[in-house]
Amino acid sequence: MAANPNIAIDGPAGSGKSTVALMVAKELGFLYVDTGAMYRAVTLKALREGIDLNDWEAVERVAASASIELIPGGNSMLRVLLNGEDVTQEIRSPEISRCVSLVARVPEVRNRLVELQRSMACRGGVVMEGRDIGTVVLPDAQVKIFLTASPGERARRRREELVKNGANVDQRQVEEEIHARDKIDTQRDTAPLKPAMDAEIIDSSTIPAEQVVKMILARVSARRQSL
Ligand code: DC
Repeated sequence: MAANPNIAIDGPAGSGKSTVALMVAKELGFLYVDTGAMYRAVTLKALREGIDLNDWEAVERVAASASIELIPGGNSMLRVLLNGEDVTQEIRSPEISRCVSLVARVPEVRNRLVELQRSMACRGGVVMEGRDIGTVVLPDAQVKIFLTASPGERARRRREELVKNGANVDQRQVEEEIHARDKIDTQRDTAPLKPAMDAEIIDSSTIPAEQVVKMILARVSARRQSL
């Protein structure tokens, strides 16, 4: 029997990747891997150690000494362990969101995390979300999706998430933060955010997550039949 396919879901902040990727993984009984959480964990360690995020060698050292584990939790949640400590909540703070793109642009940090991500997907059956999954991490993924949404809608979703977590932010502030992050993520030299040539691009601005999930599941079954 053929191994289960790997599914790559890329897209910018607020495009609905996490919601959709989790739902797809649950539906198929696949492992869900949130690669953004890994960059966030390295960022947390760097901030705790008080290093200058423009000092790439120091950032590389932080990544080299970080052990990052993603543990499937109850409620289809993913727990993130940094050197054994549960940092699932802490990596979602506004400060980490503001700084993570600076850490994610460092090539050696990416090399290390990409290696880890590939090892998680080596047996198939993984739904992996990020920015460079279809282009760099899993170029042979059987299904590649690039999820996008209008800037206003992405900011609205992101704000909703922050408010739910107790943060007090206005829409303009969130729009500016997303814009700044998009700029660094799309313009960096190593593995910039962009759709893979063979990715299906889905604009989720006006489509509910359930429908996006159905579109992806249809793609998966078509691929399975053709294998
Ligand atoms: O998906 P997220 O917002 O948690 O991602 C946090 C940051 O990590 C994002 O600004 C870009 C970076 N990232 C990346 O460069 N490559 C990935 N595969 C995933 C995330």
